[in-house]
Amino acid sequence: MRGVVADGAGGPEVLSLGEMPDPVAGPGEVVLEVAATAVNRADLLQRQGFYPPPPGASDVIGLECSGTVAEVGEGVEGWSVGDEACALLAGGGYAERVAVPAGQLMPVPAGLDLVTAAALPEVACTVWSNVFMVAGLRPDEHLLVHGGAGGIGTMAIQVAHALGATVFATAGSAEKLELCRELGADVAISYRDEDFVEVVKERTDGHGADVVLDNMGAKYLARNVDVLALEGRLVVIGMQGGTKAELDLSVLLRKRAAVIATSLRARPVESKAAICAAVVEHVWPLVADGRVRPIVHRTLPLAEAASAHALLESGDASGKVLLTTGA
Ligand SMILES: NC(=O)c1ccc[n+]([C@@H]2O[C@H](COP(=O)([O-])OP(=O)(O)OC[C@H]3O[C@@H](n4cnc5c(N)ncnc54)[C@H](OP(=O)(O)O)[C@@H]3O)[C@@H](O)[C@H]2O)c1
Repeated sequence: MRGVVADGAGGPEVLSLGEMPDPVAGPGEVVLEVAATAVNRADLLQRQGFYPPPPGASDVIGLECSGTVAEVGEGVEGWSVGDEACALLAGGGYAERVAVPAGQLMPVPAGLDLVTAAALPEVACTVWSNVFMVAGLRPDEHLLVHGGAGGIGTMAIQVAHALGATVFATAGSAEKLELCRELGADVAISYRDEDFVEVVKERTDGHGADVVLDNMGAKYLARNVDVLALEGRLVVIGMQGGTKAELDLSVLLRKRAAVIATSLRARPVESKAAICAAVVEHVWPLVADGRVRPIVHRTLPLAEAASAHALLESGDASGKVLLTTGA
């Protein structure tokens, strides 16, 4: 089959289309004929040599895809050859075929085309697992989403808004702030021109954010803890602003607050399967009734993976960048 190969670690130009062996469905796995995959920030890091795949995972880049079941491994129930699905992957999505544990397959939400479905697994699973399963956001609470116009942010705003929470979102340009508002953010905050701590406290009469979903890591740690409400939960999922910072435990202690950091990719198969099942139960109905929609910035052929990486790296994209195989 064809797939994206990397000529060493480096810039987007190391990526090109090459030949590679077809995957085989092991016990409990299916092979999907990939229709589309999507570019994630983690893919950029993997390409640069900083984020190796977990043990046993394909070394081909790609954490999600949509496609048609082409082979069903021993012991798999509920999926047949020809079924359409989307999937959360530990790797291998940038190829014509990929093997995936059956628990990480999800049906295509009603009303969505197969290619667009590739925009959903990573963001839906990340948002549902962190904001709802880990941080337990409730409808009467305030959520602060950093990077509201990104892939994760566009999903977090929509799901939290649909479930009744008040949503604050940060973004870097007027156009992206507008997108956050369109998707349901009650307050959109420019991370360039405004202090998000001040804005959130002012708009909540000093209460603060009950949950913060953070992509910045070290750079925002002190301010994220500052903006937390009593018994607030800060969930760090990205380190775009570095990995090391000082944490004033006395502030956490006074607020009875929590700082949690998680990674989806390294979770065991059973844990990913539980997240996928929860996403199908809670998020798919919101997609089917139109309250949550995938935000796709651009769709390119798989052969243009290098351009897709350059686009995400430029910071110009809002939402997801997809790659199609033509299948
Ligand atoms: N831990 C996990 O399991 C997990 C899973 C998935 C993703 N992630 C991480 O989550 C983060 C978001 O992923 P993504 O797919 O949404 O990436 P993305 O689409 O590339 O979005 C990146 C976001 O970062 C925002 N940003 C840049 N500088 C910022 C700043 N100073 N303050 C606030 N936001 C800033 C951008 O905002 P503008 O576009 O408005 O400038 C953009 O929304 C990444 O760090 C990714 O690695 C983690």
